[in-house]
Amino acid sequence: MRYVVAGALLRERAGGGRELLLAQRSYPPEVAGLWELPGGKCGPGETRAAALERELDEELDVRVVAGAPLTEQVRLREDLLLVAHWAELVAGTPRAVEHQDLIWVDAAELAALAARGALVPADTAWLPELTVALDVR
Ligand code: CDP
Repeated sequence: MRYVVAGALLRERAGGGRELLLAQRSYPPEVAGLWELPGGKCGPGETRAAALERELDEELDVRVVAGAPLTEQVRLREDLLLVAHWAELVAGTPRAVEHQDLIWVDAAELAALAARGALVPADTAWLPELTVALDVR
């Protein structure tokens, strides 16, 4: 089984509440323009934590520390499993190196994107857990 690992980065929003980083895919055509938790495939022998830390360095130009996994896992193909981990930003400011754009969303904004089908389909599996994390005050 190969893994794709995606990162859930949260930050405190000025004025209260939390927000989540989403990245807008630029390829392939089926998902270009849709928003995802940024990440990518684990290399051979690479741990999921190491893969996430490498991918977010490459894609966002940030240093993160991978934390606990989110509960839901999504079977993308017979041999490919999508997982997400919480990630803590330790240095840098995310910038869209490989994505079209980046946004920070609160729970309502995340729900609005989901309602108009603007999320990468597989990532909707994490909506309940992400929403809970964003709603915590
Ligand atoms: O760049 P790399 O090939 O390592 O990974 P990717 O193209 O970003 O992702 C590999 C597969 O996982 C693609 O089919 C993506 O659509 C999927 N993916 C996803 O469904 N949700 C994410 N948050 C990240 C990747």
